[in-house]
Amino acid sequence: MNFVDIIIKKRDGGKLTSEEISFFVKGVTDGSLPDYQISSLLMAILLKGMDAEETAQLTMEMANSGGMFDLSSVEGFKVDKHSTGGVADTTTLILAPLVASVGVPVVKMSGRGLGFSGGTIDKLESIPGFRVDVTEEEALQFGREGGIVLMSQTDDLTPADKNLYALRDVTGTVDSIPLIAASIMSKKIAAGADGIVLDVKCGSGAFMKDLESAEKLATTMADMGRHVGRKVTAVISGMDQPLGMYIGNSLEVMEAIEVLKGNVSGDLLEVSLTLGANMLLLAGKVNTEEEGKALLLENIRNGKGLAKFREMLMQQGGDVNIIENYDLLPLSKVKLEVKAECSGYITKMDTAMIGRASQETGAGRMFKGQPLDFGAGIIMKKRTGGAIATGETLAVVYSESEEKCRSAADFLQKAITIEGNKATEQPPLIWKIIRQED
Ligand code: URA
Repeated sequence: MNFVDIIIKKRDGGKLTSEEISFFVKGVTDGSLPDYQISSLLMAILLKGMDAEETAQLTMEMANSGGMFDLSSVEGFKVDKHSTGGVADTTTLILAPLVASVGVPVVKMSGRGLGFSGGTIDKLESIPGFRVDVTEEEALQFGREGGIVLMSQTDDLTPADKNLYALRDVTGTVDSIPLIAASIMSKKIAAGADGIVLDVKCGSGAFMKDLESAEKLATTMADMGRHVGRKVTAVISGMDQPLGMYIGNSLEVMEAIEVLKGNVSGDLLEVSLTLGANMLLLAGKVNTEEEGKALLLENIRNGKGLAKFREMLMQQGGDVNIIENYDLLPLSKVKLEVKAECSGYITKMDTAMIGRASQETGAGRMFKGQPLDFGAGIIMKKRTGGAIATGETLAVVYSESEEKCRSAADFLQKAITIEGNKATEQPPLIWKIIRQED
């Protein structure tokens, strides 16, 4: 097969055959195709798209490019969750122990952050001693015993996605619905869960900026789940401001623990409950989303969710004392308060730019493999819609140097719009939920 013909076919808007897609993924996995040819096809796919059949074939080829994690020895219906990526999006650290605490096992592989959105694995690594590189055998043992494990992706899981994502990231080919859908679903299929809840972010801090594209991505992935025999629910949730108030690795761990202690309400709790309740629905543990939310809230009130979090820390070597003493978590020494330069109402936040501010502090990566400053980040003090007076604190920035703090503060000032009149409407937090039977 001549790969140039495949590139030209897609460039001209043609439909690729299963053999051509298979040839492509094999070449990506074994290194026989050069990066420039792979990148050309990626760009052609971004510009010309792929239909449902091509996207499903690409997904399955990618899922099969490495090992498949077999969770059958863990009893019960296993549920997984994936977010398309946002800012202060700490839901996994909250919902995984909560869902596990009501008896639905969560054996979850997560990734590191790249770009402005944080990764669960980076957050967990900010906990002294916590081991994310658990073996498959250990993961299955933890899954059988406590029903919870949060781990990094094993090396042989979807190698095609690892290679493709690294190239997409540097060739302007991330924002393609078929490529995002195949990337996410191939990992989730290979990770072995029976049911998957997808958190498709929509708004200024997300890949999908509007409801139409978020809905297209969500339905593409839900349909794919149906084809491959996995139950999938996609929740389209708002990313027009940071989800929680804490942005950064150890900072997000602190906020997640505060939610599990029942000390924090608001958007982060609401999205965590919505996703968690839909995981319980998929597992058949509850009959309605409301019932699921009530069960999860109950396990916040009675401390069972926090106890499950503690159990996870113990089993994976993390210091459990962090739960009572946040001083044991890293926090950068230099601190800068960012003050409002005028008074009025916060009408909007450019959330991607707030993510960019967090990268400036050292909490997020500018390039793959960049070491993070686990104690760096931002504590937001305001949400959109609220009134603010000149000189009032908008956010507090933490970093290792004054220069980095000031640079992050500049991004924050640009990201937050203050106007005289209150905005008439704020975008919804939960836009839509797409279930396979819908
Ligand atoms: N998250 C992924 O895992 N892959 C993408 O392509 C985009 C977001």
